[in-house]
Amino acid sequence: MAVTAPARTRLAVLPTPLVAAPRLADGLGLTGPLLVKRDDLTGFAVAGNKARQLELLLAEALEQRADVLVTGGTIGSNFVAAAAAAATYAGLGCVLILAGDEVDRTAHPNLAAACAWGARLRWTGDAERASVDAMLPTVAAQLAAEGARPHVLPRGGADATGALGYRLAVDELVGQLAGERPTVLVAVGAGGTLAGLVAGVVAHGRPFRVVGASVSRPVEEVAARVLDLARQVALRCGDEPAGPQDVHLVDARGPGHGLASAAGDDAAALALRCAGLVLDPVYTAKALAVLPAVVPDGSALFWHTGGLLDAVAAMLGRP
Ligand SMILES: Cc1ncc(COP(=O)(O)O)c(C=O)c1O
Repeated sequence: MAVTAPARTRLAVLPTPLVAAPRLADGLGLTGPLLVKRDDLTGFAVAGNKARQLELLLAEALEQRADVLVTGGTIGSNFVAAAAAAATYAGLGCVLILAGDEVDRTAHPNLAAACAWGARLRWTGDAERASVDAMLPTVAAQLAAEGARPHVLPRGGADATGALGYRLAVDELVGQLAGERPTVLVAVGAGGTLAGLVAGVVAHGRPFRVVGASVSRPVEEVAARVLDLARQVALRCGDEPAGPQDVHLVDARGPGHGLASAAGDDAAALALRCAGLVLDPVYTAKALAVLPAVVPDGSALFWHTGGLLDAVAAMLGRP
């Protein structure tokens, strides 16, 4: 069933294309057909999948009459750059809390973009991503004490509001698939994207299976988080809640979060050669690399989530 109009600030150009990739299917050794859902083409800044999440997150911030978005992550985070773009677009300020010690903005294209798009930066002095979570409320409180109206977005936009963006994306995909039932594979970081997809698939009566390729966290950790978020989304929408059997994940971390893998590099080269797709080494390349193992037969759908500036970072030899 379709959700009745949640508050949503339009950012993305939707629907994104759903395209067949027969040469890529051959190159990967798949026996069935391969579709690619082009959320690298969401059309807002270079936000990829984060545009869908930010539509809901931004609407919530505006509803609460916020005047500054506060969020954070690593210097290479696609979400922080996308949040900076969304804030500017909506006429809000943006304060980003970044893990680690201060570096020059040229250290990563996502950082450069966030600065170019007006974000102010704060540094945690600790390379651990969790250090960002600890500083978010403190910085928000400081801003409020100075008279601002801050609105905090969690790392990766991974709360029920952000995840709702992908609950809505399932409505879109179901319309495009016209009865086809591929196994869907998507890269998973903070988990909001997969959580929304799981919630949407359950709400639609499980027309297809969704599998997440976890590139950032151990599978058990991310499964619990995804299930919790998917249930929160279902509660908001009045849908059937997902169960543990609805959350499918494979470990695609390779050498570790943020580190390129040989299998990912091969998959990215194949995707460019066979389908003209640009994959990033952190998320999408690692996800595509596990596709043959996840869908050894039957039809497959690779949900391309973007990551263009991370692909550029790799070309520049940035970590
Ligand atoms: C390119 C790309 N793909 C996939 C993901 C994973 O999305 P999520 O954090 O919602 O799991 C991200 C997250 O930053 C991303 O930037």
